[in-house]
Amino acid sequence: MERQEFLDNYLTDRRGTDCSKWDGLKAKFGEKDLLAMWVADMEFKTCDAITTALEKRVRHGVFGYSIVPDRYYEVYSRWMERRYGFPVKKEWVRFSTGCVTGISWMIHAFTNPGDACMILTPVYYPFHNVVTNNNRILVKVDLKYHNGYFTMDYDAVEKAVRENQVKMFLMCSPHNPAGRVWTEEELDQVLAICRRHHVLVVSDEIHQDIVFKGKRFIPAAAVAGRKYRDMVVTLNSASKTFNLATLIHSHIIITDEKLMEAYDKFASGLNRTEVSIMGMEAAMAGYEKGEEWLGSVLNVIYDNYCYLKGTLERGLPGVQVCCMEGTYLPMIDLRACVEPDKVQEFVQKRCRLAVDYGEWFGDGYKGFIRMNLATDPAYVRQAAERMISQA
Ligand SMILES: Cc1ncc(COP(=O)(O)O)c(C=O)c1O
Repeated sequence: MERQEFLDNYLTDRRGTDCSKWDGLKAKFGEKDLLAMWVADMEFKTCDAITTALEKRVRHGVFGYSIVPDRYYEVYSRWMERRYGFPVKKEWVRFSTGCVTGISWMIHAFTNPGDACMILTPVYYPFHNVVTNNNRILVKVDLKYHNGYFTMDYDAVEKAVRENQVKMFLMCSPHNPAGRVWTEEELDQVLAICRRHHVLVVSDEIHQDIVFKGKRFIPAAAVAGRKYRDMVVTLNSASKTFNLATLIHSHIIITDEKLMEAYDKFASGLNRTEVSIMGMEAAMAGYEKGEEWLGSVLNVIYDNYCYLKGTLERGLPGVQVCCMEGTYLPMIDLRACVEPDKVQEFVQKRCRLAVDYGEWFGDGYKGFIRMNLATDPAYVRQAAERMISQA
C-alpha cells in the first residue's frame, strides 16, 4: 500500500481511549500536554484482517472457555517457517499472557530464589524488575557502545557468568533499546558461552518481525543448525508485530522434551495457561493475512527513522541517533549537546516531549533517550524541530 494511503487509513488519534501512552502522561510525567513518544506500541490501527476476525468473534457473543484449534498452530508455524526458516511444531508451543509474564514464569520454573540471572544492559526495564522482584540476583553486563552502535562484550559476559554462577540469561533479540538484530555469529558466540557454563537462555523475541533493510532475524533456537535448541526457551508473540499488546496472548516455545517436561510440571501449578480468545483470533488473522499491512508499517517506521537521524544529526552536531536495525525504539545519544543531568529538563520542560530515558534501561545511559517511531511522521518532525530549536 502506498505510504499516504496507509497513513490515511491507519493513523489514529488515541487520546481519550484510556491508552497508557497519552492518557497515562499525567501519572507518569506529572503533566498532560506532552508529545507522547514513549510506551512501545503504535499509533496505527491494526490490519483489517484482525479487526474483521475480532468483529466476527464479538458478534458470536459467547466468550466461554476455548481450545486452540490446529489451524492456529499451522498458521503460526507457516509464519515462522516462511520468514525465519523455523517451523514450530505444535508440541513445542505453550501460551502465556505476555512475554514479560513468560519471563517471570521461566524464572520460577527453572531457577531458585537467590540464583543469578544475567541481562545485557541497556535493556527494557522490566528485564531488571522481573529478576529482582522474584528474589533472584540480577547480574548486569553492559553492551559495548561506540558511535551509536551496540555490540556484545563476550569477555565481560563470560567473566560475569563464571564469577556469579549465572543460571539464566534473559536475552533480548532483537534488542530493545539497542536496536540491534543480532547476527548469527554474535548469537553463536554468546550461546556458546552459555553452553560452556550450563546457563539456560530465555530469548525474548517479541520484536522478531520488526526488522529493517537487509537485516535477518534468526531465532536463538535456530542458530548454527539448531545446536543450542536444548538450552533455549523462546518467547514471542504477535503483540509488537500487529499492535495487540492488551490482547495478552504470547507464545512460549520449548523444543527440548526434558525442558518442556520441567516447564509443564511448573505450569501445572498455575491455574491459567489457556489462551485469550481475542488474542488468539487476532494473532491467527495477522499471521494469515497481515503481511502486507506489516510491510507498510515497517516502511513508515523506517522513513521516520531516516528523517530523524538526518535531521537531528545535521541540526545538533555530535548528537547520535543510534542504530535501528530492528524494533521501532532507537536510542538517541544527546550527550554532545545537553549535559546528562539536564536531559530530562531539556526534553520534557523545554521540548515538551514524553520519552523513555536512558537511565531507565541501564546505569551508564544517562544522557540518552529512547524515542518511539511507530507514530505519525508529523510527530517525529515536531519532536526533531523542538529539539533543534531548544538546544
Ligand atoms: C523486549 C520486550 N519484551 C517484552 C515487552 C512487553 O511484552 P508483553 O506486553 O507481552 O509483556 C516489550 C515491550 O516493549 C519489549 O520491548
